[in-house]
Amino acid sequence: MIFVLLLGLWAQGDAQKKAPDPLPDGLGKKELLKICVDCHGPEQIIAKKRTKSEWDDVVSNMVQMGAAGKDEELDAIVAYLTKNFGKD
Ligand code: HEC
Repeated sequence: MIFVLLLGLWAQGDAQKKAPDPLPDGLGKKELLKICVDCHGPEQIIAKKRTKSEWDDVVSNMVQMGAAGKDEELDAIVAYLTKNFGKD
């Protein structure tokens, strides 16, 4: 019995050690993970909150640097970032 309890605690501790996913689920997350994390991690993307037009600028900059996606995918990413990491 005590063994089961200890095992439970151990498993829980282990789960907490794994870094939590910093990105909330939602439309556009899939595209972001496909297009935006080749050169840097998601942490760098979401380090700062931005307005819609600032996210638009970031995504245009990234495209100039080599991020490749269809217009719909890039729009979905801007919408996702504005919704989850927007600035009022
Ligand atoms: C081809 C490589 C590449 C891809 C793909 C890429 N980035 Fe970047 N990104 C960079 C580099 C290099 C920097 C750091 C240089 C800089 O800040 O201008 C950067 C920096 C950033 C920053 C921080 C900029 C700042 O001024 O604080 C954000 C936010 C960002 N990227 C978002 C994105 C998003 C969103 C996507 C997907 C649309 C993306 N990146 C895809 C290369 C890339």
